[in-house]
Amino acid sequence: MMLAVQNLEVRYGGITALRGVSIEVAEGETVLLVGANGAGKSSLINAVIGLAGASRGTVRFAGRDISALACDGRARAGMGYSPEGRRVFPTMSVADNVLSGACGRGSAAQREALDWLCGLFPMLRERASQPAGQLSGGQQQIVALARAMSSFPKLLLLDEPFLGLAPVWIARISEAIRHMQARGTTILMTEQMARPALKLATRGYVMRGGEIRRSGSVAEIRDVALAEEYL
Ligand SMILES: Nc1ncnc2c1ncn2[C@@H]1O[C@H](COP(=O)(O)OP(=O)(O)OP(=O)(O)O)[C@@H](O)[C@H]1O
Ligand SMILES: [Mg+2]
Repeated sequence: MMLAVQNLEVRYGGITALRGVSIEVAEGETVLLVGANGAGKSSLINAVIGLAGASRGTVRFAGRDISALACDGRARAGMGYSPEGRRVFPTMSVADNVLSGACGRGSAAQREALDWLCGLFPMLRERASQPAGQLSGGQQQIVALARAMSSFPKLLLLDEPFLGLAPVWIARISEAIRHMQARGTTILMTEQMARPALKLATRGYVMRGGEIRRSGSVAEIRDVALAEEYL
């Protein structure tokens, strides 16, 4: 199993954001976490990358218990992360934003990553030296995604990659995700916009109130996922 989360609990002060959550992601899968606002999707992604501390439970990655590992250690172990709300470093150039995801690697590997990503997204080359804060929302989401992809992660964590984007950008981001799938990358993604996300996923979990309410193949969770979308 690429990722195995067992009985995870995440609390923020008095608020329990996740209670007894267990999920598994096998190598090569694209697993979707769906659920309304506050369901706990980001808390789960953040607990996997190590940004949210868990008060109970374990996270195993490629067979190894990484529960005690900090965020940077998990990134070095092979996780890439694109946060909710397309967070870029606004005053840094587009190229530096992308390369910040590969900063643990040698310069030859960084060059290779940037060339590959610029081939996928010509916009990155055209805007390479421009401050990322000047880009449109869709362009910033591409930068955030490229940053997460630049280390060629084994597991790519995407938190609401479509949030607030126009259909044309949703299509471009979907295409980028398909490129990662074609490379064999395992993906765990959250999305409130269930419709386009269901087209990319192989399997999914429906979350509500910090718990997993349902899991199964895309066909099995489709109706529940679409109903949750409008809650
Ligand atoms: N930093 C925080 N401090 C306190 N409470 C938080 C914090 N982050 C999240 N929460 C609470 O934890 C619960 C789960 O939130 P979370 O952000 O994980 O949900 P989500 O499914 O990602 O929602 P959204 O669709 O809005 O992104 C919610 O009740 C939320 O208010
Ligand atoms: Mg969220």
